[in-house]
Amino acid sequence: MASLLEQLLSLAMAGTVMVSSSLNAAAPHNDVDNLLFLANRQWRVSSAYVPDVREASVKGKVREMRDEAATALEQLFADCKAATGKELYTVSGYRSYYTQNSIYQRKLEKVGSQKKADNYVARPGASEHQLGLAMDIGWDEYQGTSDKFPQSKAGAWCTENCWKYGFILRYQTGWEDVTGYKTEEWHFRYVGKEHAARIYQNQMPLEEYLILLRQAALMDIVIGVE
Ligand code: DAL
Ligand code: ZN
Repeated sequence: MASLLEQLLSLAMAGTVMVSSSLNAAAPHNDVDNLLFLANRQWRVSSAYVPDVREASVKGKVREMRDEAATALEQLFADCKAATGKELYTVSGYRSYYTQNSIYQRKLEKVGSQKKADNYVARPGASEHQLGLAMDIGWDEYQGTSDKFPQSKAGAWCTENCWKYGFILRYQTGWEDVTGYKTEEWHFRYVGKEHAARIYQNQMPLEEYLILLRQAALMDIVIGVE
């Protein structure tokens, strides 16, 4: 099978991936509204950044996300119910910079050091929740965040099928050195269907996918694809 870089290049050459969108992805830190914007320990969002969000029409709490992500979430939840008879619940969607700060401070008090807290909670400005593109998801029997999520009927379905709706499972076991966080079976990030499908097929963290996109974008420039 062709490598992801080869796949991306052939899509670019066939004109099915817009070079401009690869370029945005290559430097997403310049474009905070880009669906691929990377918020992590390295790339922070300003405290003033507040995306346009709306409440998703689903069950659960803290249901706000950006419109496109909220629409995809509604479809994901509805199809999960239809397929499994079980329901998903939102636990935590959009968080302001200041809410993230409170969550970080609470974790810090609980675990006693920044080094430990940093494994679990992003510092203010470093969370995808501030982008309005992340949702922590629970299920009918446990409406909080749990590593048992993929063992529940609804959670298993969500984990397997989320990419079809544009979501990726962001913090997976084995990726800690890249993402900076312990496994979170409940944290889903919206990136749009096209990218989610490729990220899922290639089983890689968003950080690595963006590096490959950047290489493909640079090669587009070199070979002059329009
Ligand atoms: N728990 C994730 C890393 C966050 O705080 O955004
Ligand atoms: Zn989360």
